[in-house]
Amino acid sequence: MASQSEFRPRRQLSIAALVLVIILLFVVASAIFIYTGGYNVGADVPHTKLVFGILEEIRDKSVESHARNVTAPSNFNDPRRIPAGAELYNEMCTGCHLGPGIERSELSQGIYPSAPELASGDDLSPAEQFWVIKHGLKFTAMPAWGKTHDDELIWDLVAFIRQMPKMSAAQYKAAVASAPERHEQMMEQMPGAKNEAGSKPPAPGTKAGGTGVSRPN
Ligand code: HEC
Repeated sequence: MASQSEFRPRRQLSIAALVLVIILLFVVASAIFIYTGGYNVGADVPHTKLVFGILEEIRDKSVESHARNVTAPSNFNDPRRIPAGAELYNEMCTGCHLGPGIERSELSQGIYPSAPELASGDDLSPAEQFWVIKHGLKFTAMPAWGKTHDDELIWDLVAFIRQMPKMSAAQYKAAVASAPERHEQMMEQMPGAKNEAGSKPPAPGTKAGGTGVSRPN
């Protein structure tokens, strides 16, 4: 009995060496595979199951963790968000995500991973949807809309995409048609927006209502 639990340093050493050699071989094989261009990055050939599984897990866990700090505004349920979001969605999202009564576009057929049809429902929470729309998703065609749109407009989109699965093609069209001017107005007020004559912002180095004295050059 005692011999079974005997410490065998040589045997343990050879097992450790074998594990090391296997790891080393794996690293070398992976490097050869990557550097010889072995992996097909073409969007018309699906990922291997392993790569797809890993990327999916990375995305799901990342979205879940980053969206924890996102809280919806208190007026998230304001019904005016629906038509505002509908217009934005129709303008910016249908090319990839389609919508009620919208035919498959060439874009939607060519991208990989494909964009989910959000009109069929989406199991992300509002905070997760907000985060994905604002920041986009690396390694996919999903853009970061937060670069050009403020949070209010993104919440409009979230409010709308949560309603869309309940909409017929006719209701979708009606929602888009009833959109307020709000989008255009908000875009104009956003930083970096083109300023029309008469709405010039104060020049850098001057304060609105200040002395008007500019910094010496
Ligand atoms: C150029 C194509 C493209 C456009 C335009 C686009 N998306 Fe996406 N979107 C994608 C792709 C592709 C994915 C899925 C990526 C993946 O598989 O992880 C995605 C994912 C999403 C998701 C996450 C869905 C889920 O369940 O994981 C949301 C929400 C979303 N998009 C909303 C929008 C909204 C709202 C717009 C418009 C403002 C938009 N997208 C515009 C390509 C696009």
